[in-house]
Amino acid sequence: MSDRTMHWENVYATKGETEVSWYQERPTTSLEMIRAAKSDHEAAIIDVGGGASRLVDALLQDGYRRLAVLDLSANALDVAKKRIGQAASTVDWIVADVTTWQPAKIYDVWHDRAAFHFLTDARDRAAYVERLRSAVGPGGQVIIATFAPDGPEKCSGLPVQRHNSASLAAELGREFELVETRRETHHTPWQSTQAFQFSRFRRRGS
Ligand SMILES: C[S@@+](CC[C@H](N)C(=O)[O-])C[C@H]1O[C@@H](n2cnc3c(N)ncnc32)[C@H](O)[C@@H]1O
Repeated sequence: MSDRTMHWENVYATKGETEVSWYQERPTTSLEMIRAAKSDHEAAIIDVGGGASRLVDALLQDGYRRLAVLDLSANALDVAKKRIGQAASTVDWIVADVTTWQPAKIYDVWHDRAAFHFLTDARDRAAYVERLRSAVGPGGQVIIATFAPDGPEKCSGLPVQRHNSASLAAELGREFELVETRRETHHTPWQSTQAFQFSRFRRRGS
């Protein structure tokens, strides 16, 4: 098991879902941006580094039917599966490191809240973008939320690379055009605040 996987398996084995700084009861900004990206409930959507997030619950409630959640922590995905119950069987749960994952299908929407920002090494970011490019076709949309430039320097005790829409655009390359960017002040369960940015891109082509 890699150090990275050990870190996250330990987090989800020792902390409850609501005891982590990134917990959200309702991921409103993500939901709004996914709906704006693809309102068709047949859209294939993947939540990359989804962990135990309640985004998948909310998307199922909305009526989206082709959902996948990828995370390197099996513990995290188990928390989400147990919470969701029977409907979890309709979701594709993928235990993988996104930087080495081999996508087997094309997604209409790629969503990532607070996973990409852990990639502080340029080679890991390039590997992530390579996976993204093989998983998102022309016309597909990519939503990446990270700590903003004035956000914290660490998350879960690990250093992060903070971003804005321009730095994300540079990582993704010219094939992806920026559609919208938003700022969000996240309130942690212990009521400290963290500045996030959410940027949505569209892959050029039909
Ligand atoms: C800060 S948490 C955010 C979880 C979720 N996106 C949310 O908003 O609640 C970061 C998540 O990314 C996952 N993660 C970190 N690095 C990853 C990688 N290289 N590949 C896949 N998942 C990763 C962690 O296991 C963790 O669940």
